[in-house]
Amino acid sequence: MNNKIINFIKKKNKSKIISLTAYSKNIASIIDRHCDLVLVGDSLGSVLYGFSSTKKVTLDMMIEHSKSVRMGIKKSLMVVDMPHNTYRNPKEALSNAKKIISKTKCDAIKLEGGKKVVQIIKTLIKNKIPVMGHLGVLPQSATSFKFRGKEIAERKTILRDSKLLEEAGVFSIVLECIESSLAKEITKKINIPTIGIGASVYCDGQVLVTDDLIGLSKIKARFVKRYSNIEKQINDAVLKFKKDVVTSKFPAKKHSYKIKNIA
Ligand code: KIV
Repeated sequence: MNNKIINFIKKKNKSKIISLTAYSKNIASIIDRHCDLVLVGDSLGSVLYGFSSTKKVTLDMMIEHSKSVRMGIKKSLMVVDMPHNTYRNPKEALSNAKKIISKTKCDAIKLEGGKKVVQIIKTLIKNKIPVMGHLGVLPQSATSFKFRGKEIAERKTILRDSKLLEEAGVFSIVLECIESSLAKEITKKINIPTIGIGASVYCDGQVLVTDDLIGLSKIKARFVKRYSNIEKQINDAVLKFKKDVVTSKFPAKKHSYKIKNIA
C-alpha cells in the first residue's frame, strides 16, 4: 500500500475525511485544495451526459475525464470509478483496472458491490491495485434508490459485506444511502474509513457530487445540501454579456486588435 493511502486510512478516528467528485481539470484544481479524496465518479453519466442511469458509462469516457482531472490534482487521493460491465470477472477487472491506472495515473479504483465482488477485489489487490468499495445503493445495478437498511436481513447483509470488503483489502468504503444507525455500526466495526453519501454524520468522511453542492445540477435528493447557486451566477453573467453585445459595449477597444495608420 502506498503512503498516500496509508495516510488516508490513518485519518479514521482522527479527522473527518473530505471527498468530492470531479469530471474535469478546472473543478478538480479548485476542490483539490480542500479535499482528501477526489472521485471521478461514473455519476458523470447522468450529471454530464444526461443518461438515465450510470449503466451506459464506458471505460473510455471514464479514462478521458480522469486524464483531465489528473491535471488538476496536486495533493488529494484520486480515485476512478470502474464503470458498469467492466469488472464482471477477475480477468476482465484486472485488465480494465490496469488500463485505468496506466492511462490516468490515478491512485486507486472504486467498484460497487459486496460478497459478489470479493474475488475480483482480491485479484486487483494481489496485483497491487488499491481498491475502494461501495455499499448500500449501488447505482450500476439498483432498481430502487430508496435508502438501505430498513429490514433486519438487509442490515445483516450490508454489515457482513462491509467486513468482507475490509478482509479482502479495500482501503475505504463508500456507504450510499444507508440508514444512520447501520452506518454508525459499520463505521465502528471496521478499521478502514467509511465515506458517506446519504449515510449520516457517523461516517468517517462525506462525499457529494460537486455539481449538486454548487447548484449546477437539478437533483432533489434528501442527502444533497446546496452550498452555492452557480447556475444563477452563470445565468447572470450570460445575461450581462448578451446586453453588452446588443448595445455594442462589448467588445471594447481594449478587447480588440488594431494597427496604426489603418482606418
Ligand atoms: O459516481 C459517483 O459519483 C459516486 C459517488 C456518488 C459516491 O459513486
